[in-house]
Amino acid sequence: MNKISASLMCADLAYLYEEIKKLEQAGVDWLHIDIMDGHFVPNFTFGPDIVKKVREITSLPLDIHLMVEEPERYIDIWQPTSKDIISFHIEAKSKPEEVIEQIKTKQSRPALALNPQSPIEAVVPFLTSLDMILLMTVNPGFAGQKWIPEVLDKVGQLKKLAQEKNLAIDIQVDGNIGEHNIALLQKAGANIFVAGSASVFASRDYLSNVSKMHTWLEGGRKKGE
Ligand code: DX5
Ligand code: ZN
Repeated sequence: MNKISASLMCADLAYLYEEIKKLEQAGVDWLHIDIMDGHFVPNFTFGPDIVKKVREITSLPLDIHLMVEEPERYIDIWQPTSKDIISFHIEAKSKPEEVIEQIKTKQSRPALALNPQSPIEAVVPFLTSLDMILLMTVNPGFAGQKWIPEVLDKVGQLKKLAQEKNLAIDIQVDGNIGEHNIALLQKAGANIFVAGSASVFASRDYLSNVSKMHTWLEGGRKKGE
């Protein structure tokens, strides 16, 4: 099923509580939280304390995107729930199979993220132990960039592989998702869309922006479906 995961990095951070309540009312499915360490990407965003606070004030699933080296250092420091998903990058220094186990031990859902230049083959050995693959459609680190259309092929390749292996794995796309590319990405096989500056946060009217996203998605989706 299609899901919209609103990227909190694009919210008005001076009013995070109000923003989250507005996003809930607008009908987003998940909250996407970008964690950066200033090493894996040249930027900083949220840290574990913010994630804990967000977990307290909403019951929406949290979609935690770790853009950090040594992701194993950041799994045990918060209390995710079984509906939350934690993505870490295949390009980060880590032993992916161990990090996946660590996330599962926390009763949370593991996912692997892939930079635009990394080949799909890199995640293939781990597919059967994952709930989702996150395909970056921009270079990670900053909101508001232009997407890299070559990733479209990778979405198709991954969808094909998942079908061949009979795996019900979610395919998430992240970075400059909007009217210009969302239907193409959906057609290629993506079903989880990170909503940032080109969609949910394009204006202050989140309710209308979310409903626009549903109209851009083929087959649409009525509220509450
Ligand atoms: C970028 C982040 C994205 C970002 C998306 O590194 O991973 O989640 O917030 O923002 P837009 O949609 O503006 O690219
Ligand atoms: Zn992200």
